[in-house]
Amino acid sequence: MNLLNRHLLTLKDFTPEEIEYLVDTAITFKRLKNEGIPHRVLDGKNIALLFEKPSTRTRCAFVVACVDLGAHPEYLGKNDIQFGKKESVEDTAIVLGRMFDGIEFRGFKHETVEGLAKFAGVPVWNGLTDLYHPTQILADFMTIKEELGHLKGVTFSYIGDARNNMGNSLLIGAAKMGMNFRAVAPKELFPSDDIVTYARTIANETGATITLTEDVQEGVKEADVIYTDVWVSMGEEDQYEQRIQMLKPYQVNQQMMEMTGKDHTLFMHCLPSFHDLETVVGREMHDKFGLTELEVTDDVFRSKNSVVFDEAENRMHTIKAVMAATLTEGDVNDLIKRS
Ligand code: CP
Ligand code: NVA
Repeated sequence: MNLLNRHLLTLKDFTPEEIEYLVDTAITFKRLKNEGIPHRVLDGKNIALLFEKPSTRTRCAFVVACVDLGAHPEYLGKNDIQFGKKESVEDTAIVLGRMFDGIEFRGFKHETVEGLAKFAGVPVWNGLTDLYHPTQILADFMTIKEELGHLKGVTFSYIGDARNNMGNSLLIGAAKMGMNFRAVAPKELFPSDDIVTYARTIANETGATITLTEDVQEGVKEADVIYTDVWVSMGEEDQYEQRIQMLKPYQVNQQMMEMTGKDHTLFMHCLPSFHDLETVVGREMHDKFGLTELEVTDDVFRSKNSVVFDEAENRMHTIKAVMAATLTEGDVNDLIKRS
């Protein structure tokens, strides 16, 4: 496998074999990390990390991944550089591409990360846009593979806002990997037609199935995985009231977990999550709407079936795989053996 110089803007950019290769490479990196074996396969490289939106996991995963791989990470927050204010995407991309070996971008418009990729001349990785969050899905798929041993044929129910970056990316990823994907949401929050059409075309080749349903009972029956995300994504903060009304019946709670009819259904969430009062937003939600939990109840979040913190850790291992694969020639496993 050779992914040198490839961008990761959405999972559309990679074949099922390439996605599996990235997940497996991440599993190798995790073993090396746990066994304390150095893996500095990006020694001497420099990586730019651009963030228009805040982040805990993605930022930290990239920083620690860079350091472990021997690369230097440079964090550039929205107030640190001229980008988007005094300097165009094109000029910023060219300048960064002259100095850095790879660029991560997190922000609002998906066109921005596409613009960076067009002009940078080095690999660009999408760390989340309004439309897609592909590096998260690699970590999620790694977690499922660790838990269930495979991806193909897994029944995966995504509950809640199926029209956001997570819903879009999971739909595409599941179609690629031959999974049974169900979006369980009110119609207004089904993924957009163009993404569903794309995913259905891929599903015809991979054997995946795609179901969009408003019916929770039908949507979670026999699910191997129940996945949810926040009801209000970054940049949509004025929509809490409307979303709470729409999504109340789609809260992941113990009753919904039991509707699967399986004991071992995994609970997954990309995080951050609203499941208690321990945050500023949590207290605001309580004062405004009388709620202490939104998309998931605290008991499910903390249950033995919950793998949310494995997903969070796996962000780092998968981001290592993405950077190593796109910044080096040939198979990363050969490189690891030689390093
Ligand atoms: N899941 C995720 O992307 O988390 P952050 O927003 O903390 O990066
Ligand atoms: N849909 C969420 C994902 C956070 C990782 C958001 O965009 O805020």
